[in-house]
Amino acid sequence: MAHERGRLSPLEILHTGPVLPVVVLRNAEHAVPLAKALLAGGIRVLEITLRSGAALEAIRRICSEVPEIIVGAGTVLTPDDLRSVAQAGGKFAISPGLTPCLFAAAHDGPIPLIPGVATPSELMLAQERGFTELKFFPAEAAGGVAMLKALHGPFPRITFCPTGGISQDNCKNYLTLPNVACVGGSWIALPELIEKGEWSGITKLAAKAAER
Ligand code: 3PG
Repeated sequence: MAHERGRLSPLEILHTGPVLPVVVLRNAEHAVPLAKALLAGGIRVLEITLRSGAALEAIRRICSEVPEIIVGAGTVLTPDDLRSVAQAGGKFAISPGLTPCLFAAAHDGPIPLIPGVATPSELMLAQERGFTELKFFPAEAAGGVAMLKALHGPFPRITFCPTGGISQDNCKNYLTLPNVACVGGSWIALPELIEKGEWSGITKLAAKAAER
């Protein structure tokens, strides 16, 4: 498995598959069945957002019980968040934006950070610090496909994971762009399916999203 080779690069993470499911988990008991449902649909990576008290425990459980899937954290806002995710076994961290403190912590940190940008100036700040794989957030609200096409000219070495407002209906528009490795979104691990334990429904959505 890719993650058994040790630390993955941001590019390896973003190239794991076309879609990175963004998950808000309220109950850590749901973590393992959710990870298995995604795997059954052909998805090998997921992002658990640090927006609930269950997130770190969910990451721990997935790491130990479903090692075939690469689990990272989203909504990583501070150096403490980054450390907690690494301690829980998370393989990567994604932030919606960037800050000097987060950059400094990520530089010597044990897991890769994929910071979020929405403008050329933010992108230049990230690039200046050596970050070339970025989340483009909030993708649809910040200009969507047209913005990413425009950014490719001056910044040809940047690879994006656009996230925010992306769905099964519009994901292909992003995935055909040369500067997009994958897209992120919450349309696969739907909270209502998770709450009801409808794992086969999640597997179906995952299988559709994982199609190239
Ligand atoms: C998020 O951080 O919430 C992601 O951007 C997911 O956005 P979405 O719910 O629009 O897919």
